[in-house]
Amino acid sequence: MCGIFGYVNFLVDKSRGEIIDNLIEGLQRLEYRGYDSAGLAVDGKLIKDGDEEIMNNIIIKTPGKVKVLKQKIIDDEINRTDIFDNHAGIAHTRWATHGQPKEENCHPHRSDSTKGEFIVVHNGIITNFAALRKYLLTKGHIFESETDTECIAKLFKHFYDLNLKAGVSPDLNELTKQVLHELEGSYGLLVKSYHYPGEVCGTRKGSPLLVGVKTDKKLKVDFVDVEFETNAAQQQQQQANGHSSLLQNNHSTSLDLGFIPVAPGEQNLRTSQSRAFLSEDDLPMPVEFFLSSDPASVIQHTKKVLFLEDDDIAHIYDGELHIHRASTKSAGESTVRPIQTLEMELNEIMKGPYKHFMQKEIFEQPDSTFNTMRGRIDFENCIVTLGGLKAFLPTIRRCRRIIMIACGTSYHSCLATRSIFEELTEIPVSVELASDFLDRKSPVFRDDTCVFVSQSGETADSILALQYCLERGALTVGIVNSVGSSMSRQTHCGVHINAGPEIGVASTKAYTSQYIALVMFALSLSNDSISKKKRHEEIIKGLQKIPEQIKKVLNLETKIKKLCNDDLNDQKSLLLLGRGYQFATALEGALKIKEISYMHSEGVLAGELKHGVLALVDDKLPIIAFATRDSLFPKTMSAIEQVTARDGRPIVICNEGDAIISNDKVHTTLEVPQTVDCLQGLLNVIPVQLISYWLAVNRGIDVDFPRNLAKSVTVE
Ligand code: UD1
Ligand code: F6R
Repeated sequence: MCGIFGYVNFLVDKSRGEIIDNLIEGLQRLEYRGYDSAGLAVDGKLIKDGDEEIMNNIIIKTPGKVKVLKQKIIDDEINRTDIFDNHAGIAHTRWATHGQPKEENCHPHRSDSTKGEFIVVHNGIITNFAALRKYLLTKGHIFESETDTECIAKLFKHFYDLNLKAGVSPDLNELTKQVLHELEGSYGLLVKSYHYPGEVCGTRKGSPLLVGVKTDKKLKVDFVDVEFETNAAQQQQQQANGHSSLLQNNHSTSLDLGFIPVAPGEQNLRTSQSRAFLSEDDLPMPVEFFLSSDPASVIQHTKKVLFLEDDDIAHIYDGELHIHRASTKSAGESTVRPIQTLEMELNEIMKGPYKHFMQKEIFEQPDSTFNTMRGRIDFENCIVTLGGLKAFLPTIRRCRRIIMIACGTSYHSCLATRSIFEELTEIPVSVELASDFLDRKSPVFRDDTCVFVSQSGETADSILALQYCLERGALTVGIVNSVGSSMSRQTHCGVHINAGPEIGVASTKAYTSQYIALVMFALSLSNDSISKKKRHEEIIKGLQKIPEQIKKVLNLETKIKKLCNDDLNDQKSLLLLGRGYQFATALEGALKIKEISYMHSEGVLAGELKHGVLALVDDKLPIIAFATRDSLFPKTMSAIEQVTARDGRPIVICNEGDAIISNDKVHTTLEVPQTVDCLQGLLNVIPVQLISYWLAVNRGIDVDFPRNLAKSVTVE
């Protein structure tokens, strides 16, 4: 998905070369999210512009990977030696939404082709861009790309010029507020301009953005005050709102009717000082700022970060970070943003000895599953305590129903655990794909508990569904991997699955950790039930053994590698059969195989085989069947019989030493240890993760960047 990175240095001398290297490195840390183009903007040289001296700018952008951008910078012979003691650079990786991945559509985008007065990078989608573009065309702006983003850059210049015409020289953050007033949709964006050398504004709505802060000296306080709109400015803004936005006016005049210049009192209003950024002697101190859509690109520079809230405007100038809001303070609204210390280590996001992040993450599962349970399960006394849910359990126990909502792999983890939820809690549970749930405008009530499961915590469909449920007064619970993500912050309560950063585009360790977190959730909800005590103990003892058992399953890698190489490589299609708990495993296996190896694969409920799918079965179609021991084992065996009777030779995932299965009618068996029925999917999914991985590697596919896919899908 699109990635944003910005770098500002103040009283720290940096050459242009060092600044570019910083930006490139930041983009490289965002590469794992998937993207198709990259670009950056830095200052050029001072040039004469009439009577004025202005800093021209350098924008370099290209379709392809960051290494292509790096080469382009070398080929363009960009001067690396000029030194800046205050500079703002911005960079971007783009995932095409509006317009093909070609150079003119890459970010950064500029306000005009002559001087490039305002330069913007943007994540998200501006939904009213077509109307804005049409309007800006009537005002003489010439567009260079097909993107929605370009209208933002043009709007900056448009408002800047209007303010000047009205005799006002606006502050960058005031100008940003005017631009935001026109935008509909979602954004995380950065803007720089030669009118504001060394400054940058960053803002977000529905798309993540954080600011890392690096200083030699300790910050005076570990928070930044939020600067709300003053009453006078607010009144003026309301007046402007009364006039409504540019688009709602009749734009026949050259001076826009909807435009109200920045209040004279607000221009360059820089009276307040950010308490955090002054040294002991109250003088500005050397400081570097890193703005990013993802902590993974900031962590190697600093662990001190500030997560922006929706509608915050971070304005960085003169070595200070100011947080502005376009509204006056409303009751209960926080007046500070904390500067937090990230716990994530850089080596946590590196590949280590593995060829791909996906492989590393598959092999991390003994640790990641352990970490999900760490400190939360007292195995001796069989007690589960989820700190983030404790206070909410009585409310959830009283709810009318539980609705689990997610997308993709996260949806499968909900399917995998629905049955144990229903069994332990006796509350009706439905499982919903976020997009379909929204399409149907499904009824949600105040006494519903809506559980949102997401690795990234930034998936657009899930976030929209979350907002939908919040508006209807339901209690919302997050099961999320990324701490500080939108979903983790917007839900009422929740559980961080603590799987560590997942970088491979194919979700693997997040699935097993989500699964465990959901089982722990179900256990917590029912921990006061005497009748469920034995079942509880059985599951908790089972959970304790899972990390070790996963290690055992991972030993199947050599056999799986050979199987993929010898038998599956040239196949075009694959079926996965499972029922009961293993239906979710079949669906997840099929998703993994198609997304990584591009082989068509389908997860089929074994009970449905005879209702149509059996027509596909012959001696050629590869089939994987899940036949581990649980109450449905006899029924699964009958499905396997139906397959073998039609000359199918299934690959069977079964429990260790299961003699019933090992006969000459099956192609091969992949034996996994036995665990409690509701946890068996945690072990059964590992062989299919490995199959998808090795099928893809054999086919020469870049496993961490499968085509057409991105790590977190922040567009609907
Ligand atoms: C928390 C700390 C952990 C510490 C432990 C010690 C964090 C992130 N976690 O873990 O470092 O070791 O206490 O007791 O500080 N939440 C949501 N939505 C979500 C996920 C979480 O609202 O999607 C909320 C929870 O309700 C909770 C907070 O975030 O208030 C932290 O959740 P979690 O990390 O799961 O809590 P603990 O396991 O208690
Ligand atoms: C599959 C995969 C996707 C995600 C889905 C939801 O391997 O990664 O199907 O599971 O896009 O993403 P999150 O969990 O981040 O909400």
